[in-house]
Amino acid sequence: MTKFFFAVVIVALLCVPAAASTDCLICHSAMQGKMEGRKGVVDVHIDIEKFADSVHGDFQCTDCHMTYGTGPHTPPSGDVPADVAELIPFVSLKSKIDPVAQSACVICHPTIYKELRESVHGENIFVKKETDGPLCLDCHGSPHYIVPKTDENSHVNHANVLHTCGKCHEDEKIVEKYDMSAHVIEKYKESFHGKKYILGHKKVPICNTCHGSHNITKWDAPDSPVIGEGKVKTCGKCHAGATKKFAAAPAHKYIGKENPIPYYGEKLLILLVFGVFGFTISHVLLEAFAEIRDNVFRKKKGGHHE
Ligand code: HEC
Ligand code: HEC
Ligand code: HEC
Ligand code: HEC
Ligand code: HEC
Ligand code: HEC
Ligand code: HEC
Repeated sequence: MTKFFFAVVIVALLCVPAAASTDCLICHSAMQGKMEGRKGVVDVHIDIEKFADSVHGDFQCTDCHMTYGTGPHTPPSGDVPADVAELIPFVSLKSKIDPVAQSACVICHPTIYKELRESVHGENIFVKKETDGPLCLDCHGSPHYIVPKTDENSHVNHANVLHTCGKCHEDEKIVEKYDMSAHVIEKYKESFHGKKYILGHKKVPICNTCHGSHNITKWDAPDSPVIGEGKVKTCGKCHAGATKKFAAAPAHKYIGKENPIPYYGEKLLILLVFGVFGFTISHVLLEAFAEIRDNVFRKKKGGHHE
């Protein structure tokens, strides 16, 4: 019986993808359940197949979890490279369990990390020391199951980006705190692009097509891709020969700030519609009232004379 058990374990081990950390997965693929992390609850189970199919499936667990030894862990310890160490104090603000692993992305994706750090999102964390801006996992999901962006399960696939950005940009608390326009997702959906997007058009621009992915700026920043010359260039990626006049078309319907005319135009229209309705209804009511009054009055008059 024990021999059989060991045989099963060995076969299971051989089935584990060759380069993945079998040492860690021996426990973590079998373990079920959640544990309390530094900030919130985490799931300790790792799905071997999903991990192996991910873009990082060939890596050792310790490529990211650099301070973990195997076995029922001795407390994570050991030195980490300087570029990782430097990030840890900031990343710790958002990390649930292992800020070292969450900072390790910089080792293999240094350019992207730099871009993110200098973006309006990175500034939120690295300069303002807030926790509302996104780090890698906020947009890419679990670090163990990241798939190529062309895969429809990717959080940044054309079909899913709206939801990924919307987690925060439809959150009233965040939108208010940073004085941003509310409902940018809804307002995108109402634009000429958004309407086609909903119908499944694959070539229309989505959030990151216009704003960028890692190098997002404030909409009115000098180097913004959604204002002035930058905007003309952005539109020009698909609309050959786009001019400033063409680029003036609203990308988010009635977001207001850059487009006061449609914004106040809509308000005026609403006022007009209600005005006309109100007028018509009161007119009808008054007329009905006059009719009734006349009838009663005439009847009364007639009554007197007959
Ligand atoms: C012998 C079983 C076992 C092995 C092998 C193992 N772990 Fe764990 N691991 C656990 C248990 C049990 C917990 C939950 C600890 C708790 O509830 O406090 C855990 C928790 C964790 C956590 C959550 C945070 C923490 O520190 O508690 C991480 C991250 C982790 N393991 C990574 C790894 C990595 C990476 C390896 C391989 C280098 C590994 N583990 C190998 C049993 C194991
Ligand atoms: C590409 C980098 C990377 C690799 C490879 C990696 N992890 Fe992680 N892991 C992370 C990050 C980042 C976190 C989240 C850290 C945080 O929030 O503080 C994490 C979290 C965890 C947790 C806590 C639960 C959770 O999902 O948040 C466990 C357990 C864990 N990893 C185990 C493993 C094991 C076992 C392996 C190898 C099979 C592995 N990790 C491979 C980056 C990685
Ligand atoms: C040890 C090096 C290494 C580390 C550490 C690492 N990555 Fe990667 N990552 C890669 C490589 C290599 C690829 C490309 C894989 C491919 O093209 O198949 C990749 C691909 C990706 C992709 C691209 C998916 C796509 O659309 O093609 C994302 C997103 C990603 N990594 C995020 C992260 C995050 C987040 C972290 C930190 C938690 C991280 N990586 C840590 C090496 C690494
Ligand atoms: C604000 C959301 C967001 C954050 C934060 C973010 N990404 Fe991305 N990432 C995206 C989007 C969207 C794409 C898809 C880009 C595309 O379709 O061209 C992407 C694509 C990628 C790719 C694929 C290669 C490429 O450029 O297309 C890699 C690798 C990657 N991200 C790594 C990271 C790492 C590492 C971090 C953390 C430093 C990170 N990302 C943070 C949204 C984000
Ligand atoms: C076709 C290009 C385009 C697309 C697609 C797009 N935007 Fe915008 N976005 C803009 C422009 C241009 C502005 C500047 C305001 C304006 O002119 O309406 C802007 C402004 C913003 C602002 C700042 C609003 C404020 O007043 O604070 C946010 C946040 C934003 N967009 C997020 C998103 C998100 C999330 C998506 C995906 C649903 C998205 N955008 C899709 C072009 C675009
Ligand atoms: C984890 C939450 C979160 C996610 C996910 C997120 N953002 Fe943001 N975003 C923020 C916060 C917070 C700010 C304001 C930061 C500040 O001003 O300090 C911001 C600012 C912005 C701005 C500048 C707004 C302005 O006032 O001009 C744009 C544009 C933007 N985000 C676009 C995006 C896009 C596109 C995505 C998806 C690819 C995205 N964001 C995903 C939280 C998020
Ligand atoms: C990723 C490519 C892409 C980008 C970038 C892009 N568009 Fe479009 N746009 C499209 C597609 C695709 C359609 C739908 C065309 C169709 O159905 O024939 C469209 C439709 C339109 C329409 C409707 C009228 C027409 O010509 O069909 C306008 C107006 C428009 N875009 C303006 C803009 C503006 C302004 C920008 C820059 C802020 C922009 N677009 C950026 C791809 C793009």
